[in-house]
Amino acid sequence: MDIIVTVDGPVMALRLDRPDKKNAITVAMYAALADAFERAAADEDIRVVTIAGQGGLFTAGNDLADFIAARPDGEDMPVFRFLRAIAACPKVVIAGVEGLAVGIGTTMLLHCDLVLAAPGTTFSLPFVDLALVPEAASSLLLPRLIGRQRAAKHLLLADPFDAETALSYGLVTEIVPADALEGRLHGIAARIAAKPPEAVRLTKQLLTAPDDGVAERMAAEGALFGERLASAEAAEAFAAFFEKRKPDFTRAR
Ligand code: COA
Repeated sequence: MDIIVTVDGPVMALRLDRPDKKNAITVAMYAALADAFERAAADEDIRVVTIAGQGGLFTAGNDLADFIAARPDGEDMPVFRFLRAIAACPKVVIAGVEGLAVGIGTTMLLHCDLVLAAPGTTFSLPFVDLALVPEAASSLLLPRLIGRQRAAKHLLLADPFDAETALSYGLVTEIVPADALEGRLHGIAARIAAKPPEAVRLTKQLLTAPDDGVAERMAAEGALFGERLASAEAAEAFAAFFEKRKPDFTRAR
């Protein structure tokens, strides 16, 4: 399985482990992630969830071959189950990212409580270039975090940004050298796990007020995302990636 789940006392550690495909996330991996987050939510003994990549990379985002194969079947798609589970996770979620954080590799960070990033990390949101739309309520949360015009730079122009920029945006909590990332991730997880559990739980609940529109936005984005996956534009974008050529959207109507 390309997701490694380790539970050590109060900490559940999740690792994306598909280095030959740059840790691109498949349907099966989303299902495993969703299962893990659902398990963490239900298990009183788990207090913190960490998520990281492997091999110097976080993730190249959604597996594009799966996008081609995807039959948009709405809210039951494992990706949406994963997104709902991470967004609603009552436990503290800490991400450690390095190398690449593409697409959902960046948008899922909007649902983490703390984000550590190695200095060379590149964040990108290439949804429009793939003829898709944003997901994970990023169309709501990113403008809210960084302002509409800066969000447009990354969601409309699809300009990537670096770790320093992510830190200045408030998307990243701290920049940590790559070789210290894992230790720091576990160190912070252990600090959280040593705090009074009920106070931590209630504080996270207060920080993520349920009436913030996230669930509604995820559902609205999800409906459009499903339509886009089936579009001629998207078919051209995916074919161009695997044929290693530039897409031509003039024919994709
Ligand atoms: N889905 C499926 N396969 C992917 C992938 C993805 N998102 N990202 C990378 N891969 C695969 C490549 O097809 C390649 O497989 P191969 O060795 O069988 O040919 C392998 O991973 C290595 O990728 P490659 O493109 O050769 O590496 P690179 O270092 O030149 O480029 C990226 C890395 C991430 C810039 C580039 O792979 C890329 O743009 N990926 C797509 C990212 C994307 O659009 N994600 C979806 C966001 S919504």
